[in-house]
Formats: sequence, C-alpha cells, structure tokens
Amino acid sequence: MFFKNKSDPANTDILNKIDKEKIPKHVAIIMDGNGRWAKKRGLPRAMGHRAGVETIREIVKTSSNLGIKYLTLYAFSTENWKRPKDEVNTLMTLLLEFLKKEIDELHKNNVVVRAIGDISQLPRQCIDELDRAYTLTKNNKGLCLNLALNYGARDEIKKAIINIANQVKKGNIGLEDIDDKLISDNLYTKGIPDPDLLIRPSGEYRISNYLLWQIAYTEFWFSDIYWPDFKPIYLYKAIYDYQNRSRRFGGV
Ligand code: IPE
Ligand code: IPE
Ligand code: MG
Repeated sequence: MFFKNKSDPANTDILNKIDKEKIPKHVAIIMDGNGRWAKKRGLPRAMGHRAGVETIREIVKTSSNLGIKYLTLYAFSTENWKRPKDEVNTLMTLLLEFLKKEIDELHKNNVVVRAIGDISQLPRQCIDELDRAYTLTKNNKGLCLNLALNYGARDEIKKAIINIANQVKKGNIGLEDIDDKLISDNLYTKGIPDPDLLIRPSGEYRISNYLLWQIAYTEFWFSDIYWPDFKPIYLYKAIYDYQNRSRRFGGV
C-alpha cells in the first residue's frame, strides 16, 4: 500500500533519475532549523516546531514509498533539555500529538514506529504513547521509523560500555568476546544496519552527538534548507547524490 503523496511536477524529474534498485536502506536525518525558520517569519519558535512536524509527515510518506527500510529522525537530543522549559514542553506536546494523530495511518501503511534513546526520562504520557505505538506496529513489515528521543550518542556508548563491563564482571563473557558486533548489539540501534546516508539541513555542518558509532562509513549530505522547508524533492536530491558517490569502506 502506498501513502498518498502530493505529486509536484517539479519532483518527477529528479525522482525519475533515482535508481530504484539502489535506494539507501537506512537514512538518518538531523531535523534542524525549526527555530530559525520561525524567526525568519517573525513567528515564535513553537510555530517552527509545528511546521517541522508537517515535514516529518511528508518525509515519512516519501521514504516509505521509495522503499527505504529504516528512517531515523533526530527529534530530541540529550542536550536539548538545556532549552527553556516552555520550548521543551512544546516539543513533548508535539510528539504526543504526532503519535496520536498519525499512528493509525502509519499502521495502515505498514510502518513500524519505535524510539531510540533514553525515553525513561520523557513525560509519562509520551512514554505510554510510544509504547502503544510500538506494540501496535511492531509486526509491520514496511518502513521502520526510529524516533531519536532523549538520544545522545555518548550516552548510548556509555551505557553500552557499562553493560558490557558488567557482563565481563559477572563472568558471562571474557574480554576476547568484545568486538564490533557486541558493541553494536549493546546500542539502541541493535539489529538495525548502520545508516547509509545522513542528512543535515539548516546550514550546520556538525553531528551534534548523533549516532557516533553507527556513522563510521555513512555518506553525509548537508543542505541550507531549514527543516520546515525540507520538501520531498530534497530527499530525492540527497538520494540521487548518494547514488553517485563511490563507497569504498577503506578498500579500493
Ligand atoms: C530542530 O530545530 C528541532 C530540535 C532540535 C528539537 P531547532 O529548534 O534546533 O532550530 P534552530 O536550530 O534553532 O533553528
Ligand atoms: C540537533 O539539533 C538535535 C536535534 C535535531 C534533535 P540542535 O539544534 O540541538 O544542535 P546544535 O545545538 O545546533 O548542535
Ligand atoms: Mg538547531
């Protein structure tokens, strides 16, 4: 089943150029620029976040229709708690609204909805709604939408180290058992292949504590577009560019 996407004639050119056999399996996005988008329009930052949710809806549909298997969206970082309380509340409210409003359509379209990050620190209602979303959709076979919430790669790696150290201490495993696979298996992204493509809009050229272990060989794609303006055509462009890169993984 296909999501109904707005078909914009400007999109079809680039879409036709994309090799449907070489769609990246895992796309990760740092959804950035909501605040500046709002500021440019003289609007409160909250309006930027609200507009950003619209982009999420479109990009999820587009990703699903393209046959991307995993889409990992950075929605709230472990550092974002530093923001004013009001703004944090807005973000949590928008998350709740999104889950409540979209979950049925996502489920109908075979999407799995799950979170990565330390969600135990989120408001109770958000935790419950995320649990509900995952329980409902976990057996779906389509796009896997990973929402990175209270996610920080250093926190994730630190937790993995503690876990592994505990296993060693208990004598369940020895030091010789620690390899890349074991480390990957102790991250939130266990069972998910590393991202093929990482997109950061908004004109920032940094990783901001996102998926540090997982992006060892990921292709990066940056753009000046603020997230609320990030239309499907930019995802097509990113994928088109990705398909024209030569990934060598250290080989020749
Ligand atoms: C991204 O937009 C949303 C979150 C980080 C939650 P920002 O709020 O960071 O927008 P800018 O970077 O201030 O424009
Ligand atoms: C990264 O954006 C986090 C999310 C998009 C959720 P930030 O806006 O928080 O990152 P910095 O502060 O510009 O590095
Ligand atoms: Mg930002």
